[in-house]
Amino acid sequence: MSTGTHAGLPDQYGVAGHPIAHSWSPFIHGMFAKATAQNLVYRLFDIPPAEFRRETLRLITSGVRGLNVTLPHKQAAAELVNELTPRAARAQAVNTIAYFDDAELLGDNTDGIGLITDLVQNLELELANKRILVLGAGGAVRGVLGPLLERDLQQLVIANRTPLRARRLAADFADLGPVVGCGFDDLEGPPFDLIVNGTSASLQGEMPAMPSGLVSEKTVCYDMAYGRGHTPFTLWAQGLQAGYTTKGWGMLVEQAAASFALWRGIRPDTRAVLAALAEHR
Ligand code: ATR
Repeated sequence: MSTGTHAGLPDQYGVAGHPIAHSWSPFIHGMFAKATAQNLVYRLFDIPPAEFRRETLRLITSGVRGLNVTLPHKQAAAELVNELTPRAARAQAVNTIAYFDDAELLGDNTDGIGLITDLVQNLELELANKRILVLGAGGAVRGVLGPLLERDLQQLVIANRTPLRARRLAADFADLGPVVGCGFDDLEGPPFDLIVNGTSASLQGEMPAMPSGLVSEKTVCYDMAYGRGHTPFTLWAQGLQAGYTTKGWGMLVEQAAASFALWRGIRPDTRAVLAALAEHR
């Protein structure tokens, strides 16, 4: 694994997405690099979908050693790499590409472990024997189902606007634990212990109508989206007096830490970055 010794030049990393201008990843990886004394630069690469494959290969051949991959390229990245980690193969989505000196592109998915680390370590939630509701059945949700189901849950319910997608996703992961898929109208109480929003509805400024009885004063509501202020999901949760409501900043930082660890072989401490970001959100 390189430590940035090519004539003292920093090793190159970055994040590929479209759009990408507002990404916090350069800030996060910049802080990690400084704290761990790694000689690297981390840049934004705005790559339209039609150019993803060619442009990514060009970046790698020009010396880039690792990329984070975000919307809308996660599935394309899974098809591009030569080898997938087991969790990326499960998710069929890649958020981290690593290029070591062996000419093989490795694809990993650190989204799920990022969410779990935030829930378990930062928020100190116990997940074993809990009932968890995940909203959405797209790529963002695919990435987190495997790591969630490893936690000995009582039940995982996937609910989606298009119920068939949720049922298919549940069937794909049924060998890992107790998971069912349904539509929003099929949901019923008792209230869930944890509700994770993985729909992109937040980004479009609307929250789908939900049956009552899903949220109690003990329910933790977690929006995988991040940004300043409220999302339609966090407003919905607070309106129902959820016990605790939060957004995906911790997941963002923890998935970044896992990517950094894969690339550099050193795990950064995330606390300083979480504290720095808390001032911006
Ligand atoms: P991503 O990779 O971000 O998950 P995606 O694969 O397009 O993107 O999935 C988007 C998810 O948000 C889907 O679960 C989608 O529901 P459908 O499967 O029914 O399309 C959900 N979604 C998007 N807009 C929504 C809205 N306005 N209300 C409810 N769900 C919405």
